[in-house]
Amino acid sequence: MQETKYRLEMRNITKHFGGVKALTDVSLRVEPNEIHALIGENGAGKSTLMKILSGAYKKDSGEILLEGNPVNITNPKEAKELGIAIIYQEFMLAPDLTVAENIYIDQLAAGKATINWKELRSKAKEQLAKLGFDDISPTEKVGNLSVAYQQVVEICKNLTRNAKVLVLDEPTAVLTFSEIQKLFEIVRKLKSEGVSIIYISHRLEELFELSDHITVLKDGGYVDTVETASIDKNKLVTMMVGREMSQMFPERHAEIGEEILRVENLNAGKMVKNVSFSLKAGEVLGFSGLVGAGRTETMRALFGADPKESGKVIYFGKEVDFKSPLEAIKNGFGMLPENRKEQGLLLAQSIRMNSTLTILNNKIAHAGVINHKHEKEYVKELLASISTKYGNTEDNADSLSGGNQQKVALAKWIAADCKCIVFDEPTRGVDVGAKVEIYNIMNELAAKGVGVIMISSEMTEIIGMCDRAIVMRQGEITGEFTNEDINENTMIKAAMGV
Ligand SMILES: Nc1ncnc2c1ncn2[C@@H]1O[C@H](COP(=O)(O)OP(=O)(O)OP(=O)(O)O)[C@@H](O)[C@H]1O
Ligand SMILES: [Mg+2]
Repeated sequence: MQETKYRLEMRNITKHFGGVKALTDVSLRVEPNEIHALIGENGAGKSTLMKILSGAYKKDSGEILLEGNPVNITNPKEAKELGIAIIYQEFMLAPDLTVAENIYIDQLAAGKATINWKELRSKAKEQLAKLGFDDISPTEKVGNLSVAYQQVVEICKNLTRNAKVLVLDEPTAVLTFSEIQKLFEIVRKLKSEGVSIIYISHRLEELFELSDHITVLKDGGYVDTVETASIDKNKLVTMMVGREMSQMFPERHAEIGEEILRVENLNAGKMVKNVSFSLKAGEVLGFSGLVGAGRTETMRALFGADPKESGKVIYFGKEVDFKSPLEAIKNGFGMLPENRKEQGLLLAQSIRMNSTLTILNNKIAHAGVINHKHEKEYVKELLASISTKYGNTEDNADSLSGGNQQKVALAKWIAADCKCIVFDEPTRGVDVGAKVEIYNIMNELAAKGVGVIMISSEMTEIIGMCDRAIVMRQGEITGEFTNEDINENTMIKAAMGV
């Protein structure tokens, strides 16, 4: 056995997808007992590198060594047996199975003749409690859980596998602050137990809080590996984007106009209780709160995606009750959903089609006929305006990196000419540069007189972007703040019910 201080070495990894060079000569070296951050813009190749490590993708060339010994990983099972666990960005739970079944899916899949269900459930409960989530029931169907709780189940599942290398691909994109702190505790504990952790995130503050080393990728190439303590945020961003970043939150010059939406005592299901608020033209209104606070549910009810039980919605001076998203869209009311995989994108359809779903009946179709050439040009322009990285407009949406999928999901709403639009976690999984682009788009919409609602679990984003912020907790509005009163202190208090 070779002497090495590294637990894992990936050397000169190269990978193509057809004409797309996803990785060229990329190397990564991770020590035992360390949290190693892997960062780079959307499409830089982070997830691809990790999928090669986990056996999900085959590398074209390059070498992988564990404890100094070359290993040959050709499928996910081999990676698992070598102690490599990965939590994917687009995680893979079976929505129709229960929490306990998902956590112990390996054992179930192994096909043992008798399964002690009672034991399985109590073991699952124990694991969840260890992570501090004893409120998740092992018998609940995973599909019924919030995205955040699904993430917790995914982590739990991987922790039962005694991993030596644990990869977390944007684990916090779906969590809010208290959950993130819990996750950090878990990650630090695993590190102290000797696990090597590879941590991918677009939230740079997290990397500074958590990581020992940072490796930067750009355009499928290796940039550098640095000690976290030796670098600051600006330098890191410059390494990532190859230039210095201007202002994170651009200034807005929108005039706030007439009230366009007023919601009075809206009730819908368990998560929307007596919600009242209003929105003016040109305004960017933030909705903050913990995961599960009822923000998405409120907007879904307005958008016609879920039924309302009671309450009044006044839209441009008239009482409305949209019965379906289609009806809402026809009235200029749009909504970018938080879960792009299930609601935002048709993954098995082309990028072109995904970008124009909302506008086929007006901009590019004349007399009912779609002009595909116009459509393509239009889509190219649209996607370029938010710097989307993709191969061809005819490729399927699932060929895109996570952040670029989010941009395509967003593109169709930019195209839709809405008068009022809800963005639910619009910058989730999106790199720093692209975040600024999305903020610019929101500002441009506001400047055109559109009423913009942004649900976000990133408080810095609410503070930086919103004219006014509403905080929800357990289905109710618990705070409303304007200007200087929008700050972490006031919002956390309202979100936690202090
Ligand atoms: N299955 C695939 N088929 C075709 N191209 C792919 C596939 N998976 C990834 N790519 C391409 O490889 C490149 C790298 O993608 P990858 O998902 O690794 O990026 P990433 O760094 O994880 O980005 P993000 O931060 O957006 O998640 C992208 O250009 C992407 O479009
Ligand atoms: Mg990725």
